[in-house]
Amino acid sequence: MPDVENHDELRQVTEILQRHSLEPGNLIPILQEVQEELQYLPREGMRLVGRSLGIPEVDVYSVATFYNQFRLNPPGRNQIKVCLGTACHMMGGYIILDCFERRLNVHEGETTPDREFSLERVACVGCCTLAPVTVVNEKTEGKVTPTRVDGILAGLGFKKDQAAGKVEAEV
Ligand code: FES
Repeated sequence: MPDVENHDELRQVTEILQRHSLEPGNLIPILQEVQEELQYLPREGMRLVGRSLGIPEVDVYSVATFYNQFRLNPPGRNQIKVCLGTACHMMGGYIILDCFERRLNVHEGETTPDREFSLERVACVGCCTLAPVTVVNEKTEGKVTPTRVDGILAGLGFKKDQAAGKVEAEV
């Protein structure tokens, strides 16, 4: 049974569908609009779009996962991005990503159950000399170390017991 939030999201998806002609060729523009409005593509929303356009759910999901522009989990109130471009990868960006994953108890691409934090990997953000780099709520920070990960999270009000529990439902 969808909760109130999902119900609200589905209403928004329905409104978006009403603004388009329901042809399979409109799948991407519709998904783009859903993403723009909801900041992600909820699973039920993708089902509804598929049903409305006569496209199997698996095909809608394939399109949504093929394009980087689409996110399948809701963004957190705090958005943490870890650069894994070549320079950052060479300088241990994957270690920084791993630190965030362990502290937050989510994998990259996921959001904590309380929707406070989302974690994602991004390609080069253009300041390779500062590798490894993170972008937290649009603020770029370089030369990040595992110890600094704790500092960043503390600065965002993260408490260890927040990490308990399951991650948001994956699509
Ligand atoms: S590779 Fe990370 S900023 Fe360029």
